[in-house]
Amino acid sequence: APERTLVLVKPDGVRRGLSGEILRRIEAKGYTLTAVELKNATPEVLAAHYAEHEGKPFYAPLVEFMLSGPVLAVVAEGQGVIAGFRSLAGATDPTAALPGTIRGDLGRDWGLKVQQNLVHGSDSVESAEREIGLWFPAL
Ligand code: CMP
Repeated sequence: APERTLVLVKPDGVRRGLSGEILRRIEAKGYTLTAVELKNATPEVLAAHYAEHEGKPFYAPLVEFMLSGPVLAVVAEGQGVIAGFRSLAGATDPTAALPGTIRGDLGRDWGLKVQQNLVHGSDSVESAEREIGLWFPAL
C-alpha cells in the first residue's frame, strides 16, 4: 500500500483562509489527496491525537487552540509522503522555519503561549495510521 500521512490545517490556517494554499502545495509536490474534510475537533479526539504531549506546559493551550475553530483534516498519499510533508511544513517554530516552507512562508510568532503553526503532519508510519484512524474512522 502507498504511504499515507495525516495533515491538519489547524484553526489558524483555516481562519486565515490558507486551506487552499496549503492543499495546493501538497498537490504541487505530487502527492495525492485521498480525503479532505472540514471538521470540528473534539476533546476526545485531541486527547488521543496529542497523548504524547500530555503534561507538557503547552498541552492545555494547545487543546484549547485546536478547539477554537474548525480544522481541515487531510489524508495525503505518495512515496515518502510522511517525511516529505514534514519537509514542506518546515520547522515547528514558524519564526525559525525556512522560507519555501508552509510555516516559513506563511507563519510567524504571534506571541501566544502555543505555537500557532498552521499545520500538523504525522511523524512516522505508526503515528500516521493511528491518526488517520482517529480523524477518519472509516479509512
Ligand atoms: P504539532 O505538529 O501539531 O504537534 C504538537 C504541537 O504543539 C505543535 O505542532 C505545536 O503547535 C505545539 N508545540 C510544540 N512544541 C511547542 C512549544 N515548545 N511551545 C508551544 N507549543 C508547542
